[in-house]
Amino acid sequence: FCIFKIINDCIMIQKTLFSFIVLVFSYQLSAQKTTPTIKNEADVPSYKLPHLFTSKDGMEIDTSSEWERLRRPEIHSYFANQVYGVVPGQLDFHNVEVLDDEPAALGGKAIRKQVNLNFKKGNKSVSMSLLIYLPAGKKKSPVFLAYNFKGNHSVSPDSAILINGKKESELSGEELKKFNVSGRGGRTSRWAIDKMIDAGYGLVTIDYNNVDPDKNDFSDGIHAIFYKTGQTAPAKNEWGSLSAWAWGMSRILDFLETEVLVDHKKVILFGHSRLGKTALWAGANDRRFSIVISNNSGCGGAALSRRRFGEKVSDINTNYPHWFAKNFHNFNENETALEVDQHMLIALIAPRPVYVASASQDSWADPKGEFLAAKEASPIYRLYGKKGIVMEKLPPVNTPFHGSVGYHLRKGKHDVTDFDWEQYIKFADQHFQSN
Ligand code: GCU
Repeated sequence: FCIFKIINDCIMIQKTLFSFIVLVFSYQLSAQKTTPTIKNEADVPSYKLPHLFTSKDGMEIDTSSEWERLRRPEIHSYFANQVYGVVPGQLDFHNVEVLDDEPAALGGKAIRKQVNLNFKKGNKSVSMSLLIYLPAGKKKSPVFLAYNFKGNHSVSPDSAILINGKKESELSGEELKKFNVSGRGGRTSRWAIDKMIDAGYGLVTIDYNNVDPDKNDFSDGIHAIFYKTGQTAPAKNEWGSLSAWAWGMSRILDFLETEVLVDHKKVILFGHSRLGKTALWAGANDRRFSIVISNNSGCGGAALSRRRFGEKVSDINTNYPHWFAKNFHNFNENETALEVDQHMLIALIAPRPVYVASASQDSWADPKGEFLAAKEASPIYRLYGKKGIVMEKLPPVNTPFHGSVGYHLRKGKHDVTDFDWEQYIKFADQHFQSN
């Protein structure tokens, strides 16, 4: 019995030792994926940004037409293949279901529409449930088009807002939980709908999970609709989730072009955080969007990757492996190998107005890196005779600058506030009035 016990103890010790070694090894592996976060300006490495004005084969760009013909396409193609991922095909919405059409919402000042945009291919389908508010009594309105994080019902306490396209009474217990019905109106503070309507703008919004659920799983959402037989994940240069969400914004615009009450030449893309990254990429892809607004978009959005301040490429690809194309993971801890940096993403939007907004306590998103990217993109705006950022340094808090490139550093945390919306409305007014 004694010998048995000794052998047994030895096996136990061996097992424990083995799990300990595995643990240490995997910790080291994961630690290698990313390095400590830079929180002080003094620790930012020195870097050289890739040239906006020199093409791959060394041609110097002097005019907006050379930019459009030579340099812009190569930068766009690099972002598509190496960063966000290429959309592998084309698919138009199959039909539109009108679920709600209320002429006197929000105390009578708005029209509320709710529609499902349905996409279908083979036996797969995706449905996008849109919530639309438009100023009552206007023939055509410019609109802000924006994804929301927590469902349409989170953006306002309006009890008629459907939950993922359905009435509360039609939802199963599981769905009530999944879509967090109790979160109705929970994000009202981020959506200044009254301000928009009072200023003559509409809002079109949709839960971004409708297009592609935000998880590291490529078996659902819009990706799966495009797979060839036997395919289970996008190819290395194909779309991650950000690119899929950007694609969704263009498909919503296809629909808005058919909506008589919307001025489809005045659709303003807005996005916060990961959805700000999405808005910038969507605006770079689709020139039908007239203005693009990035709110606190940070790494992979408006912030320069080479600064490595706050969130880095390796952090984002480790924590959100599904957001970018697989090819982008080659640049973890290796930003200098990128042939682009994020100022070039902003430049792709030129000459259309673009607004980059940061928040003073949002160091994870690197406010200074966001400002510098907007500033570094500005020479391309100047090529078109448009006003870019003129300040050399990050401006003080709550001091907005509105050229064709707009920027502000709001006091406070990572969020969307009334202050932000007041600036976006002013910015849009200024550009729509001058055109
Ligand atoms: C995380 C992520 C950011 C992203 C943000 C968000 O903080 O690291 O890159 O912008 O989530 O979308 O809320």
